[in-house]
Amino acid sequence: MATFIDPMWRDVDDFIERHLIPQDPILQHTLQHTEQQGLPAQLHVAPNQGQFLAMLIQMNRCRTVLELGTFAAYSTLWMAKALPKDGYLLTIEGRENHYQLALENIRHADLPVHIDARLGKASDVLRQLDEQTPSFDFVFIDADKRRYPEYLELCLPHTHSGSVIVLDNVVRAGAIVNQDNHNPTIEGIRQVFTLLENHPQIDRVTALQTVGCKGHDGFAIAIVK
Ligand code: DHB
Ligand code: MG
Repeated sequence: MATFIDPMWRDVDDFIERHLIPQDPILQHTLQHTEQQGLPAQLHVAPNQGQFLAMLIQMNRCRTVLELGTFAAYSTLWMAKALPKDGYLLTIEGRENHYQLALENIRHADLPVHIDARLGKASDVLRQLDEQTPSFDFVFIDADKRRYPEYLELCLPHTHSGSVIVLDNVVRAGAIVNQDNHNPTIEGIRQVFTLLENHPQIDRVTALQTVGCKGHDGFAIAIVK
């Protein structure tokens, strides 16, 4: 799918990044290393979105983070940087080549936080989590969009009251409101909206549209009851 990006959106993201997002050699290296491997840059979160995830984690004094969909670990490292030294981050990636790249980037970053990167289908890994796994204060769902409803349900037992859940890419250039679009990824996103709408374990939820260097998309954010 060719994503439409108004050049102005990119210019504004560049402006925001230049002014507000500190250059971090570790994060820069992650982006460069991903590009060298020929993997698609549009799968990363944007730098200002990475900072936003870090800020949510800091604001809520989170100590434990669960991420579904590691890709190159760019978002992982943004989030890990916001955790205290004794923090724990579990990130799950389903694709072997993405997982290997993530491991390289995580090793290179050498952060004090325990980053537990696992290879496997998020649904399998979540079903098999052992009892020592801590409850997660923050969850970032960014894996296979077709399975967002399943992922949400599987994450909820590993959260607690006040946990924050962010779901990436829930607008997809407005495809979610195009009645003729029955792409399984779009259907998955629509279903997760329906699930969030009346979920007994969700306290508050909203979604925000974004435009920028990644085009027109958006994220949903929920607080667990
Ligand atoms: C795609 C996936 C993402 O998680 C994202 O942030 C952007 C694009 C994709 O699969 O195209
Ligand atoms: Mg994403």
